[in-house]
Amino acid sequence: MKIAVLGAGAMGSLYGGLLAESGNEVWLLDIWKEHVDRINEKGLRIEGITGDRIIKNIKAATDHAQIGTADLLIVFVKSTVTDMAVKNARPVIGSNTVILTLQNGLGNVEKIEKVAGKGRVLAGVTSHGSTLIGPGHIIHAGQGDTYIGETDGSITGRLEKVVDMLNSAGIKCSPADNISSLIWSKLIVNVGINALTAITGLKNGQIIEYEGTSDILELAVSEAVKVARARGIKLQYEDPVAHVKDVCRLTAQNKASMLQDVLNKRRTEIDMINGAVVREGEKEGIPTPVNRVLTGLVSVIQETYDVRD
Ligand code: PAF
Repeated sequence: MKIAVLGAGAMGSLYGGLLAESGNEVWLLDIWKEHVDRINEKGLRIEGITGDRIIKNIKAATDHAQIGTADLLIVFVKSTVTDMAVKNARPVIGSNTVILTLQNGLGNVEKIEKVAGKGRVLAGVTSHGSTLIGPGHIIHAGQGDTYIGETDGSITGRLEKVVDMLNSAGIKCSPADNISSLIWSKLIVNVGINALTAITGLKNGQIIEYEGTSDILELAVSEAVKVARARGIKLQYEDPVAHVKDVCRLTAQNKASMLQDVLNKRRTEIDMINGAVVREGEKEGIPTPVNRVLTGLVSVIQETYDVRD
């Protein structure tokens, strides 16, 4: 299968690398020229829980027009740039291209459908952990399940094909019939982990070792669960706080994506994660003071990258 991965950050590179390793034609698309050049010259190095190796049969490009149309476009860009990135990727989207979003946060499916049209998008969630070390080099830091589904909940042939392809690449994946539930269930994981790691600089496993961060995790998650329930969303797990803590343990060595953003002085996904809980809470009349504080703190951190030493 010819696969284009839009956004070759930590997760995009991980998925692209594993899919190339299992024999697919994979193109990583990214604006970071040094990363793209290194991959084309020396291959993509993946270290970590799945071993240390260099994947050579993978291609990377900054120019979308270079690669032609793909059978599958996997969207992994930050949810802050989904609209623009998918618009720029139009040359890759042919009439039969299936688009899969595995991004964090709320609102990505709607943004992609606005550009590519309805009926084109599969959506899902993954709890793999990956860290971008430098150009052409990532660490696979945590392994978890991936679930993907059609927006209308049907189990189609194309969905099963993508699920099989991911499983063949060693990415444990199952089809799902309720992506809103999946997206909210993943959102709640990110609500509990990402902002706290970005503010404290701690790895995922460390935030549950300290009473202060563990308490805030519980409060932020409980607020988000109330909002989800008010919206009629059935979550994928019975005990959300216990589940988020399990993810912390499973990805203990991982620097969450938002911490990686802050360390690299990049704009974070705070508005699509804790900020989204605040906005949805307002619509439902549910107060979300802890998520408001986390959103405010991360917003200030990212607005002041240039004025701090
Ligand atoms: O955003 C992230 O980093 C990941 O979604 C997760 C699951 C929190 C693991 O680090």
